Amino acid sequence: MAPSVHIQTSAAAVPEFMRLNVNLTDGTRFHPEAAAGFRVMELMRAYGLPIKAECGGAGVCATCHVRVPSAWQHLLPPPSDEELAKLDEIPGADDHSRLACQLVMTDDLDGLELELQPDSLIPQTNWVAG
Ligand code: FES
Repeated sequence: MAPSVHIQTSAAAVPEFMRLNVNLTDGTRFHPEAAAGFRVMELMRAYGLPIKAECGGAGVCATCHVRVPSAWQHLLPPPSDEELAKLDEIPGADDHSRLACQLVMTDDLDGLELELQPDSLIPQTNWVAG
C-alpha cells in the first residue's frame, strides 16, 4: 500500500507575517515583515531600511532612534535606565523616542508604527520604499 500524502490547500496553510509600519520624516513609508522575538532594529536592517544602527544593537550608539506614536506606547515595555541614558544624549529626543535595538517584536505589536529619525537615517543612496 502506498503511503498517503496530505496536502493542505486551505488559506490557513499560508503563514501570515506581522508587519512594521516605518515612516521617514519625508513621508516615505516602509512595511517590512516582522516576527515575534526579533528586535525591531534587526528587522529594519534585514529588509534594507536605511537605519544606521552603527553598534549593531549593543545599545551604545543611539543611531537607531525612532519615535513611537502615543497609540502604540502602552504596548511597549518601558525603556531601561541604560536606554533612557542613551536617549538623553540625542538632541531633540522626547517621550516618544526609543532605540529600535531595544524593542523586541511580540504578537501584540503587529502593525507597529514607527518614525525613523533623521539622526539615525543613512543618507539616501538608492533605497526604495516598500
Ligand atoms: S543600534 Fe546602537 S544603540 Fe541601537
